[in-house]
Amino acid sequence: MSTKYNEIIDEIKDQLAKGLLIAGSKLPSVRQLSEKFSCSKNTVIKAYDELEKEHLIFSVPKSGYYVVNEFQNPDNKNNIIDFLSAGPDKDIMPYIDFQHCINQAIDTYKEELFTYTDQQGLYSLRLQLVKYLQSLQVFTEPERLFIVSGSQQALNLLVSMPFPNGKNNILIEQPTYFGFIESANLQQATTFGIDLSMEGIDFDRLEYMFRNNDIKFFYIVPRFQNPLGHSYTNKEKKRIVELAEKYDVYIVEDDFLGDLDPNTKSDPLFAYNPSGRVIYIKSFSKVFLPGLRVATIVLPRLMINNFSRYKFTSDFNSSVLSQGALEIYLKNGMFSSHVKKIKELYSRKMKHLQEACELLLPNNTLYTKPSSGFYLTIFLPEKVTAKQTVNLLKEQNILVDDAARMFLPEYKKDNLIRLSISQVKENQIHTGVEKLAQCITFIDSKKNDIYRNSFQLL
Ligand SMILES: Cc1ncc(COP(=O)(O)O)c(C=O)c1O
Repeated sequence: MSTKYNEIIDEIKDQLAKGLLIAGSKLPSVRQLSEKFSCSKNTVIKAYDELEKEHLIFSVPKSGYYVVNEFQNPDNKNNIIDFLSAGPDKDIMPYIDFQHCINQAIDTYKEELFTYTDQQGLYSLRLQLVKYLQSLQVFTEPERLFIVSGSQQALNLLVSMPFPNGKNNILIEQPTYFGFIESANLQQATTFGIDLSMEGIDFDRLEYMFRNNDIKFFYIVPRFQNPLGHSYTNKEKKRIVELAEKYDVYIVEDDFLGDLDPNTKSDPLFAYNPSGRVIYIKSFSKVFLPGLRVATIVLPRLMINNFSRYKFTSDFNSSVLSQGALEIYLKNGMFSSHVKKIKELYSRKMKHLQEACELLLPNNTLYTKPSSGFYLTIFLPEKVTAKQTVNLLKEQNILVDDAARMFLPEYKKDNLIRLSISQVKENQIHTGVEKLAQCITFIDSKKNDIYRNSFQLL
């Protein structure tokens, strides 16, 4: 491309970065720019096309070009080291590929867009999902699948609905995904916990809970758990399913990051009882786009009618546009190649994080060692609280998460912090952990006697 083309792009980006062009404002006409840069109108149109592809501007036929949004100057974000955000890495999201799928979905499903559709979800998407789930060792039929508006919706509905075993209480790993705890809290469900560490769970305790506590289901995140990053072995998963079968307990398997598993031999719990004992949920928010609000749940046949009624009162059906676009994205193979890319990316970032922890954290600070996924948890030394650590790091523009809210009240611990590798830049990981290590050492040396103003170490 000509240098004029690049000059036009650079100038517009520069004006956006300086805030001289704000959302909705009109850009100079093609004629004005071709005169200003002494180039052909064609060159200007091509430059505008490129900016449009980058979603910085949009065109209105017979009117001109407009600014989409204020430009996020990457430099402003560069000094924040973000171990907090849990959405997928924005730098690898296939926006343009997916835009084609959205456009095609609008064409293909224009009639469905104007009406309510199948409560269970587009059949054509369910067919694609059945194929995709096979790659995760989940073999089932489209009739047992529901498309839900995010796995959070599925979890929320399962908390509220009765189960065929007629039991009332829920068992959860401790700690676990905060969204589930919140759902159970708001619905006043009686919830019991079972301790989870990187060594797994105590099976005697699990059996005791299954036998004695009227457990409706055990909610379990089997791979790269949130927040610990823990994964069960196949042997453990098989044992959990056998115990569930023995005591007539259902398993709700939230396999939100299963696609990232580098161990091709690792099975979901579903594989040990595909007939309905295990309810399998697959989110597309972590490996794809959380804004789509699409996930799928595989239910026992016995629960389909009831689930349908609960889903109906929640939102009739999930967004057809999101469903149609995902269907096309799965069908044309783009999804598989995207997953291949992110698998590599996340396991590399996780490895960097662990190397940095090993090298830099004080000896009295322990941490989990997942092989991939999004999360790693740090166990702070005695008397160093997560709250202090989070606050001090924040002052240094380093964001980490206090895991306190991921516990039931009776299990609460105040010395765990969760690091997410999903949005942190690879080249910031080392510095982030270095500052974290300095912060822990500082608080540890002062114990509870911290005077913020004297905090000059970082
Ligand atoms: C373990 C776990 N399950 C489910 C969800 C919710 O995902 P979705 O966007 O599919 O509702 C999250 C979100 O962070 C999560 O961490």
